[in-house]
Amino acid sequence: MRGEAGRRRTFAIISHPDAGKTTLTEKFLLYAGAVAEAGAVKARAGRRAARSDWMELEQQRGISVSSTVMQFTYRDRVVNLLDTPGHRDFSEDTYRVLAAADAAVMVLDAAKGIEPQTRRLFEVCRARRLPVLTFLNKLDRPGRDPLELLDEIQDQIGLEPAPITWPVGIPGELRGILDRRDGTAVRYQRSARGASEASEERLGPTEAAAAFGEEWVAAREAAALLDAVGASFDQKRFLAGESSPLFVGSALTNFGVRHLLEAVVDLAPAPSPALDALGASRPVEAPFSGFVFKLQANMNPAHRDHVAFVRVCSGHFERGMVLTHGATGKPFATKYAASLFGAERTTVDDAWPGDVVGLVNAGGLSVGDSLYEAVPVAFPPIPTFAPELVASVRPKDLSRAKQFRRGLDQLEREGVVQVLHRLGGDPEPVLAAVGQMQFEVFAHRMEHELGAAVELGVAEQRTVRSTDAETVPELRNAGGVELLERRDGTILAVFPSPYWLTRLESDHPEWTLEAIVTS
Ligand code: G4P
Repeated sequence: MRGEAGRRRTFAIISHPDAGKTTLTEKFLLYAGAVAEAGAVKARAGRRAARSDWMELEQQRGISVSSTVMQFTYRDRVVNLLDTPGHRDFSEDTYRVLAAADAAVMVLDAAKGIEPQTRRLFEVCRARRLPVLTFLNKLDRPGRDPLELLDEIQDQIGLEPAPITWPVGIPGELRGILDRRDGTAVRYQRSARGASEASEERLGPTEAAAAFGEEWVAAREAAALLDAVGASFDQKRFLAGESSPLFVGSALTNFGVRHLLEAVVDLAPAPSPALDALGASRPVEAPFSGFVFKLQANMNPAHRDHVAFVRVCSGHFERGMVLTHGATGKPFATKYAASLFGAERTTVDDAWPGDVVGLVNAGGLSVGDSLYEAVPVAFPPIPTFAPELVASVRPKDLSRAKQFRRGLDQLEREGVVQVLHRLGGDPEPVLAAVGQMQFEVFAHRMEHELGAAVELGVAEQRTVRSTDAETVPELRNAGGVELLERRDGTILAVFPSPYWLTRLESDHPEWTLEAIVTS
């Protein structure tokens, strides 16, 4: 058991849209031999869109709503790459996916540095103390000075970058990569469109000096500067989420991709004992346990089924085993278990800590629920950002009130939107989300799948914080604050403007007003 768990590396890639997450994902698969040619994943996505009606929206907008898991082996390691939706509107999904990861790779566009979505996703990593590796991407194009980018990472998100590799050549004319660990270099030849591995030549310092000339001198000088300021890798600080090993390259031309993939399997941690809701740890060799971090409906229009993505925390999963559903205490049969690669499903017969299992026919499960064998466990709630948009909702056709209520319940449990009610008032629900498109997905599915077309009010941008019962009367007195309750009991305070929140926060620092919701 320890051996199988110890071989696992489970991570997600976080980035601002367009920084190169999809390209890097493909290149990892290419270097691991899981696809013969880069481009296969996008092609699969294209086929899926053509084949299913799941989310016509995906097709119309050319975006990916669904996120899945890719498993591949690299050397003797089993790597689980958790895919996250690229569009900012679905970042709530990404927060949940990060709850199932043991590490993250943060991809930065070297011409842009830290962008808004990078910062937000990093905050979630920090809240979960996830170790983060950094990849400075797109160095094949003219961009900013990498040294300046190191300062930006440190100043803007407070993460200490520790470069392990460094570019030889300036951005736009990347010739090779210096490995600070042993002072060697790799010289690359580009392959056509980066579809296959770039040819690599490992050079010792003398050969590198001869091959790269002035550019090698400049790279060595930068490395000496990094040594002098102590920007060096420290495993303990990396695992504590304080420092980030940094790699440079270009996902498009494949430069530096192998260094990064090696680092994921060598430096990122194996699954460790999971902490339960009471803070006790459950060893990986304990009887099976796992939690649902994502629910996905409707992937197969012929069956209209629900898949629950379960992260295995302890024990050996064997298809067919009957588990207990923590929230209800009821048995849950796992006859239909699948692993998913893109949208392709294959039956999975067993899985180990760190792996993700897709349980089919999982309509009764909710995000955050635990499943276990023999020894009961509940895992801590998955932290998310407070929503930023609110909208009113009612059924178009009042005679379909029952379908409406059932649909709301279903989509709330899946985490498509948050369904809130005013504290002690109006029974009409209010929807909350991080992105506008969540509302669109909600309305689309209510109408086409759940048989209850809805009338949505205009979504309004609001500043929202989670609060507690003690602060509620104070907020009522302060005026202008709307108080809403989630089904799990979380109270959300909706402020008329960010200024009002800032003012109340500075006048009353003792009030509980949290941007990250953890219950
Ligand atoms: P995302 O998933 O983070 O949103 O980014 P994605 O990989 O889709 O990349 C966004 C764009 O940036 C793509 O170009 C991609 O080819 C390009 N790109 C990714 N990595 C690199 C890199 O290392 N160097 C350079 N020069 N470009 C890179 P596109 O024109 O939008 O799409 P496509 O037509 O190339 O697919």
